[in-house]
Amino acid sequence: THAPLIDPFARAIDYLRVSVTDRCDFRCVYCMSENMTFLPKKELLTLEELDRMCSTFIRLGVRKLRITGGEPLVRRDIMTFFRAMTRHLDSGALSELTLTTNGSQLGRFASDLHAAGMRRINVSLDTLDEAKFAQITRWGRLPQVLNGIDAAQKAGLRVKINAVALKGFNEDELFRLQEWCAGRDMDLTFIEVMPMGDLGNEDRLDQYWSLKDLRARLAERFTLIDLAERTGGPARYVQLQETGQKIGFITPLTHNFCESCNRVRLTCTGELYMCLGQEDMADLRAPLRASADDAALEDAIRAAIARKPKGHDFDYSRQKVDGQVSRHMSHTGG
Ligand code: GTP
Ligand code: 5AD
Ligand code: SF4
Repeated sequence: THAPLIDPFARAIDYLRVSVTDRCDFRCVYCMSENMTFLPKKELLTLEELDRMCSTFIRLGVRKLRITGGEPLVRRDIMTFFRAMTRHLDSGALSELTLTTNGSQLGRFASDLHAAGMRRINVSLDTLDEAKFAQITRWGRLPQVLNGIDAAQKAGLRVKINAVALKGFNEDELFRLQEWCAGRDMDLTFIEVMPMGDLGNEDRLDQYWSLKDLRARLAERFTLIDLAERTGGPARYVQLQETGQKIGFITPLTHNFCESCNRVRLTCTGELYMCLGQEDMADLRAPLRASADDAALEDAIRAAIARKPKGHDFDYSRQKVDGQVSRHMSHTGG
């Protein structure tokens, strides 16, 4: 078998995030602009090509696969792809198959996802207020997402809520979100907003609410126990002694976690991004399509991993946004 994928900074890459579509039924303001132009369908990897791509990465040592988008569940026939990935769970090659979703389609897909071997999903939800939800997602309807979360839990999926911490937007909902998640036995993770995409009039510095501050506010009400355990992602967790629930913090700005990075990102057109916060990418679609044999693809993957950068350059500390990347978050799926 193959040697695992090791990057120039001695990090083992065993986590692949795959964006299966650039489309989404929402338009979250920090993720997309209002008038996005989407890729023509012929640019997309087919489901068979996605399978070949993922299977090659798994052969090279990837153990965890997270499907993202855009909104992954709006891709036509996506369940066929999930069901195809089940064989890698069954063989033990893959330890986890999971999903990051806006929740809007979970009512339809939750039980199929569970049947395909999925056990844990992350749902993005920044607010529990219907009007604010409509504002931040531009196109979304909160009740639909809440129904989706219900369906997921009923289907036996563990749900983690991801909330982007946004100053002046959900600061006042910190305890509401925390209580709501505790009541439904869901973990909750907060994310610092990153400078990606066409910032336009949405100034990230104005939106930025540091998790150092958020954490301090939590600590006014609860005893926070730092947990050493990680889930393979960048989040660090605390447990609230009073409720027992876990709260995660993803802190690209206040505490860079790049030194323990274990992941790369594949877009729906077969570009491999070695870092969320860098522009460099490798085209894997060309070697995939050039030959039915996977040797050239494997070489291209190894060559790409060999130039994985040390980390992102996002920085707000000089009272301005540094290290911004121009592509939208929906392109690489967060
Ligand atoms: P689990 O720990 O398995 O739950 O996964 P995760 O937290 O990595 O996955 P999730 O999709 O929930 O990631 C949440 C968000 O964290 C992403 O959408 C990004 O905003 C951010 N994130 C994830 N990985 C990275 C990373 O490598 N670098 C940076 N800067 N941010 C990341
Ligand atoms: N900064 C931080 N998180 C973001 N997400 C989307 N855009 C950004 C950004 N600019 C999050 C979404 C979702 C995940 C896929 O990425 O809220 O939880
Ligand atoms: Fe869609 Fe997620 Fe981007 Fe919102 S953050 S527009 S739900 S991909």
